[in-house]
Amino acid sequence: MTPHNNAKAGDYAQAVLLPGDPLRAKWIAETFLSNARQVNSVRNCLGYTGMWNGKPVSVQATGMGQPSTAIYVHELLETYGVRKLVRVGTCGGLNTAVKVRDVVIGAAASTDSTIVKSAFGNYNFAPAADFALLRAADDAARSRGKRVHVGGIVSSDIFYHPNGLEAYGRLIDHGVLGVEMEAATIYMLAARFKAQALAICTMTDCLITGEEIDADARQNSLEDMVEIALEVATGG
Ligand code: HPA
Repeated sequence: MTPHNNAKAGDYAQAVLLPGDPLRAKWIAETFLSNARQVNSVRNCLGYTGMWNGKPVSVQATGMGQPSTAIYVHELLETYGVRKLVRVGTCGGLNTAVKVRDVVIGAAASTDSTIVKSAFGNYNFAPAADFALLRAADDAARSRGKRVHVGGIVSSDIFYHPNGLEAYGRLIDHGVLGVEMEAATIYMLAARFKAQALAICTMTDCLITGEEIDADARQNSLEDMVEIALEVATGG
């Protein structure tokens, strides 16, 4: 038990999928897992544990943004002994080579968040994905015929940025593929606790062209992404 989680010791599997939305956590548990049971109900930030292809796996919602995500992830790692974290989410596109529905795998996550900055004094820590999970996700996405991009992403604290696309100008110049709101902190905490982490994103809205995913494609793409994440989280 923690202030934010009423699961008991042993209630989480060692591998956990991390969607932002609690109802997406519920949907993943009900759609993909067998024998799924709810393990967390605090603040309706739902967590579940079940089986996928005969292997134990959990799903825990993080809420939106790094402060919320950091709380759930820290406690999963410290209190519940979780060893593999796979975020499943959406990202905004920052590169015209990335089309809506494409999978973006964050090899590294830049951030404007003080959550990372304040932990390293003069250093700019480079939050990076676990290589084994990254390679497995790339393989799993390609074998499903998905268009997949592996590279830098940015985890921003600001969804409605007053500077719009300009806010990301220097990052775009440096090849950053997409913007989301959680990966950098997940990568930092995984490094701190000697665990493995990866963020897999579906690109849903291109900030450069204004192209957006439609409702049907969103659902299909989410299903593909969750299957890739489950394969990665339960493999190895
Ligand atoms: N910003 C942050 N996160 C996102 C976006 C965005 O534009 N699109 C999807 N997730």
